[in-house]
Amino acid sequence: MNSEVNKDGHLVIGGCDTVELVKEFGSTLYLFDENTLRSMCREFKREFGQRYEDTTVVFAGKACLNRSIASILKEEDIGLDVVSAGEYAIAESVNFPADMIYLHGNNKSAEELRTALKNRFARIVVDGFDELKLLAKLAEKAGCIPDILLRITPEVDAHTHKHITTGLSGSKFGFPLFDADRAVSMAMSLESLNLVGLHCHIGSLINETQPYVETIDVMLGFASQMERKYGFELEELDIGGGFPVRYTVNSPNVKIAAFAEAIVSRLISRCNALDMPLPSLTIEPGRAIVARAGVALYRVGMIKDVSGLKRYISVDGGMADNIRPALYEAEYEALIANNAAAEDTDTVTIAGKYCESGDILIKEIKLPPAACGDIIAVPVCGAYCIPMASNYNASLKPAIVMVKEGAARIIRKRDTLQDLVRNDLL
Ligand code: LLP
Repeated sequence: MNSEVNKDGHLVIGGCDTVELVKEFGSTLYLFDENTLRSMCREFKREFGQRYEDTTVVFAGKACLNRSIASILKEEDIGLDVVSAGEYAIAESVNFPADMIYLHGNNKSAEELRTALKNRFARIVVDGFDELKLLAKLAEKAGCIPDILLRITPEVDAHTHKHITTGLSGSKFGFPLFDADRAVSMAMSLESLNLVGLHCHIGSLINETQPYVETIDVMLGFASQMERKYGFELEELDIGGGFPVRYTVNSPNVKIAAFAEAIVSRLISRCNALDMPLPSLTIEPGRAIVARAGVALYRVGMIKDVSGLKRYISVDGGMADNIRPALYEAEYEALIANNAAAEDTDTVTIAGKYCESGDILIKEIKLPPAACGDIIAVPVCGAYCIPMASNYNASLKPAIVMVKEGAARIIRKRDTLQDLVRNDLL
């Protein structure tokens, strides 16, 4: 993140004074720094590409997708994983090339599958037997043969929060390993589908490289069995996303390079050991590409001391724009954007404004003394905040600005009160 503190003690991001941004665009305000976003796209391409040329980087749109981000990804020549007609509509609106789009989801509608077929998406990642049969029929009707991957649950524990673990048996995603043999033989027998490889995604915010290494062992071991049994050829191995970011100073600081090194070296060594040709490698980072680029800016309102124990600093946003602390006990850092160089002397709790006791953004954080009207900046808010935002308490979803080298442009207007009633009928 390109940040500094200016002579007024204000936090400056992407060359823009965050206090001025809030004055101009109001709060709650989300800002994205374009250079950070681009540099993360490049870091993934570089770190994996220099070790394994045949790597495709596909951004997981669910982490945060809007027209501006989609245009930047397109310029950076990054693929896109979409999970709904809605995500595709955003991509399509900026002419994102369909042949760089992967379609995911455990319950794709026939309409979504038809859209993928009609527009010739790069891949459809098939999640279950019903989908396999439906897609085969639809493809036959559409007169095309889509390239598909089968999503397999490799039964590897990613050691992350239970809500974002997807690699263990019992997950709603993918073919369980015990049934994956049948899935491969069925997919190979369906003439209207072209099975090019296997997919897996074991979870999100994975701080260790070991679960990826185990996953590669399982996936390649399975592929090699399928080769012996059915002559299946693994042309592509997609290992999903899950790469971590540092939310707080205490979280592990593992570099993308370390993941690239562990994944690529295991892929090569296992393929050699199993005497398999090297497949192309696909990765689907979401969080690690956008999280650090985004910062939430809130205005402080009421401050309350409770039982001489706790000081609550209430801000004008909260769980409606960032549900992650309430949902996953996610932790964040914060600073006072208009007093960014001051010493942290007070221990406070930053509370959201919504009608739930669980609407706490940060429990127990050290900050300089805060006052009504101050601006609180919460870094690393670029992933899974805006996409999971709601209009809870009939709140207005925040505006978003993109900053770059001293210039700010609004990329999403704040909701208006009219928006709240627009779709309601009497
Ligand atoms: N590929 C697939 C098939 C996925 O399901 C996901 C995320 C990704 C890639 C990207 O994972 P990432 O690199 O962003 O970890 N709302 C949760 C995260 C849910 C992740 C869902 N799937 C959160 O706020 O932590």
